Amino acid sequence: MQLLKGKHIVLGITGSIAAYKACTLIRLLIKAGAEVQVVITPAGKEFITPLTLSTLTGKPVVSEFFDRRDGSWHSHVDLGQWADLMLVAPASASTIAKMAHGVADNMLITTYLSMKAPVMLAPAMDLDMYAHPATQANLDILRGYGNIVIEAASGELASHLVGKGRMEEPETILRHVIHKLATTNELAGRRILITAGPTYERLDPVRYIGNFSTGKMGLALAEACALRGAEVQLVAGPVQLATFHPNIHRTNVESAQQMYEAATQLFPTCEAAILCAAVADFTPASCADEKIKRKGPISLALEPTHDIAAALGQMKTASQRLVGFALETQNEMGNAREKLTRKNLDLIVLNTLRDEGAGFGHDTNKVTILTPNGQQAFPLKSKAEVAHDIISSLCDILD
Ligand code: C5P
Repeated sequence: MQLLKGKHIVLGITGSIAAYKACTLIRLLIKAGAEVQVVITPAGKEFITPLTLSTLTGKPVVSEFFDRRDGSWHSHVDLGQWADLMLVAPASASTIAKMAHGVADNMLITTYLSMKAPVMLAPAMDLDMYAHPATQANLDILRGYGNIVIEAASGELASHLVGKGRMEEPETILRHVIHKLATTNELAGRRILITAGPTYERLDPVRYIGNFSTGKMGLALAEACALRGAEVQLVAGPVQLATFHPNIHRTNVESAQQMYEAATQLFPTCEAAILCAAVADFTPASCADEKIKRKGPISLALEPTHDIAAALGQMKTASQRLVGFALETQNEMGNAREKLTRKNLDLIVLNTLRDEGAGFGHDTNKVTILTPNGQQAFPLKSKAEVAHDIISSLCDILD
């Protein structure tokens, strides 16, 4: 999904071993639809060649104030006006210091000082350099100027020391860029509850009853709502995926009961809820204190859980909207319509395991969106795109 389509990004690269990750970052930015213009410091060129970078961006790399062959001038002022965002990644300690104090001795810093667009930087350096009060004070100065600092991550560094100083991964930097450039205000001021992922129902201290949901669809929905400016209350079952958008407030739960408690508590504060979680329909009548031993066949007594969708359907006020999911394997339309009515939903998103690439674990999904009066079938798409289709349908019916 080209969330950065038509956006112009000046990518500043400095002298750090993490400069090699700039290649992946450029590819991700371009894949998301952005145009990228690299400005590199003299030290940056020691780590990565302009040829590699210009091949990836399709644009000559800017590094000098003028072209030595013909004397033509590289205008940092023009770059400052062209850009929708300046991203310095990796940002070395030296470049951070120069940015903070306006030491304009290379093209990257002059470009920074003339920048009209927001500036983001992803520091990369040794752990002691990063922790040094001078570096931290310089980062504070830059934050004070309104620049966005993507904190360094912890892990193994080029020095083989382990600590905080690694440049954040390109995928995470891309997320920050998308949040900055692609967040709209269509849903600004709205609060939306989303349930996501599976639930685990404990049998004993080491076992549970679960399902194959990964939470990908629910988290894509949370991200899509946040990108449209909504405040998202995400209630997630055991899901291994991270959420990044600052508008997403996440409550992690394990069981259907915990998900029910969190969802019923949050729903009255929200204008809509999207119930994407694959909630267990049954839970063991009791959880054994000790590990259940293997001795012959056993039978488990199971009790029904709360149907969260149905409970919220009963709580729903005239101004609230409720979206459910139906994952079916047979009589898809009939079952989905029956759930729409029985659970008092306004929309139901149907997907079937009979469609290849749809359902648990895939990065794609194929859905039909049903309302009480109609239905619309969509082709196979990425879960991010499906999420935007669902949110668009929700926007149409919001009070
Ligand atoms: O009845 P079924 O489980 O197929 O309904 C699916 C819809 O109901 C989904 O939106 C799911 O999140 C929701 N659901 C729920 N609580 C349950 C079971 C399902 O919220 N205990």
